[in-house]
Amino acid sequence: MRRYSKVIGTGAYLPEEIRTNDHISQTVDTSDSWIFERTGIKSRRIAGPDESAASMAEIAARQALAAAECDPNTIDLIIVATGTPDRVYPSTGCLLQQRLGIKNTVAFDVQAACSGSIFALSIADQYIQSGAAKTVLIVGSELCSRIVDWTDRATCILFGDGAGAVLLSASDEAGILSTHICSDGEYEDLLYCPNPQAATEPNKDETGFIRMRGNEVFKIAVNTLGQIVDETLAANNMDKSEIDWLVPHQANIRIIAATAKKLRMSMDQVVVTLENQGNTSSASVLIAFNEAVRDGRIQRGQVVLLEAFGAGFTWGSALIKY
Ligand code: COA
Repeated sequence: MRRYSKVIGTGAYLPEEIRTNDHISQTVDTSDSWIFERTGIKSRRIAGPDESAASMAEIAARQALAAAECDPNTIDLIIVATGTPDRVYPSTGCLLQQRLGIKNTVAFDVQAACSGSIFALSIADQYIQSGAAKTVLIVGSELCSRIVDWTDRATCILFGDGAGAVLLSASDEAGILSTHICSDGEYEDLLYCPNPQAATEPNKDETGFIRMRGNEVFKIAVNTLGQIVDETLAANNMDKSEIDWLVPHQANIRIIAATAKKLRMSMDQVVVTLENQGNTSSASVLIAFNEAVRDGRIQRGQVVLLEAFGAGFTWGSALIKY
């Protein structure tokens, strides 16, 4: 009998401060209407000075544990997806482990930019299917506001902070049906964030802010996500009509709409959170998933397609019977 990874709990955290498009328009040459029309974003959350990827991850994780009524000590693997770790090391996974007060578990980070949570889901599913783990905590936690150049109107309008969590448990009942992840390192120049301390010539003087050629990223994201959707359906011998919900990475409403169109899904079947959150990178899919589970849109037994695209490029999907 196949051993599945079943979702037993979800959680999320969004910082308190709301930064609107109007607020950003006061410091860079842009406007609420330009940002909303091109991206679908109206505002984003910004973490406070005392918040970090680990502190936000802890809140999201504790919510997921409470939803599942799960004792943290039963967790045998913690994977944190983040591009904004508190420290280079220890990993944010280890910091989260410490915050949850758990011993005797494996904890590490995954760095796959905005696709991080999908990569984490894929890794977790391999551990559970193989019998190497029974209960896995996955968190995507990001402080994008700290790696955004607030004087660059092409990027600062897009990103926000937050954390999302999901708890998986080994089960005989269907859960994750398949995951599909891929990377192509050819596209470094289109979207990257330097690490000044480790930089070598000729990049020594670069600041640690996101740099992006948005228009080119946009086109490749739309095409690639269309392909991953086809691959996921084919692997499961499934028709588009069998998917109940699309939970996409929240980068741009026009990218999301293109994927929904490819699936012939109405936007009513798509979970969209970016209007008030922006792009929270690896956290976005898990935050959106949590929202739709908690407000009752996603019901037990329904089929949910999660997908994401990010720097690298990296991309992936997870098809889940919730
Ligand atoms: N306000 C006003 N004008 C802006 C602007 C802003 N915030 N940002 C860029 N512009 C200007 C540009 O300077 C350019 O001006 P020009 O024609 O005088 O040169 C013009 O708008 C068009 O720029 P372009 O980059 O072609 O716009 P776009 O329609 O592609 O929209 C993005 C820009 C960033 C919104 C869009 O490309 C995008 O969302 N890309 C995907 C990015 C993404 O999701 N990245 C993360 C992937 S995980």
